[in-house]
Amino acid sequence: MPRSSLGRALFVFALGFAVLATGLAGWLWTEKQQNGIARSGASRSTGVATIGGPFELIDQAGQTRRDSDFRGRYLLVYFGYTFCPDVCPTSLQAMSQSLDVLAEQAPDRAESVVPLFITVDPARDDVATLAAYAPHFHERLVALTGSEEQVAAVAGDYRVYYAKAGTGTADYLMDHSSFVYLMDPEGRYLTHFSHTSTAEEIAEGLAKALGS
Ligand code: NI
Repeated sequence: MPRSSLGRALFVFALGFAVLATGLAGWLWTEKQQNGIARSGASRSTGVATIGGPFELIDQAGQTRRDSDFRGRYLLVYFGYTFCPDVCPTSLQAMSQSLDVLAEQAPDRAESVVPLFITVDPARDDVATLAAYAPHFHERLVALTGSEEQVAAVAGDYRVYYAKAGTGTADYLMDHSSFVYLMDPEGRYLTHFSHTSTAEEIAEGLAKALGS
C-alpha cells in the first residue's frame, strides 16, 4: 500500500475516532446536566448510587418535618419552585392527579402515598408562599422549605441539579432537574417518573410498585 494511502487511512480513522469520542463526551455531559441522575434507573439493581436520604425541613404549616416522619408510607417527591411558570405546575398537577386516579381503583393504596414538594428556591419560597401554593394541587400535598443549606443537602441526596438562571432581578427563574421520585416505606428509592409523565402513567407506575 502506498505511503500516502496508508497515511490517509490512518488520518480518516483518527478523525472518526475523535468525532466519536467528542460525541460521547458531549452526550454524557448533556445527560448529566439535564438529568442530574443519569441512568439512575439502574442504580437500585447495581447499588452504585443511592437516591434520597435523611432531611429536616419545614412544611407549609411551619412544622418541622423529617424523612423519618414518613416511614411506613410511600413518598412521591418533586423538587421545584413556586415561581416556575410551566414545568413545576404541570409536574405537580400530574403527580397530584395520579393519586386521584389511583384512589378510584384502590383508595387505601392511594392513602399510603404522601406527595412531597421540596422547593429549590428557599429564598422566595417561605412558609407563607408554600401555604398559598400547595392547595392548588392536592389536599395532602406536603410542601417543604428550609435554609439554603438544608435544601442543598436534600437536593444533593436526591441527585437534583438546580441553579438560579440569570442574575439580579427578583423575577429570576431557576434551572432544575425535574423528576418525580417514588420512595418506598423504608425511605429507599424505587423508581422515578419524568416531568412529561401523565397522571395515568404515574398512577400505573404506582399501582405496579405498590403491588395492587
Ligand atoms: Ni420548574
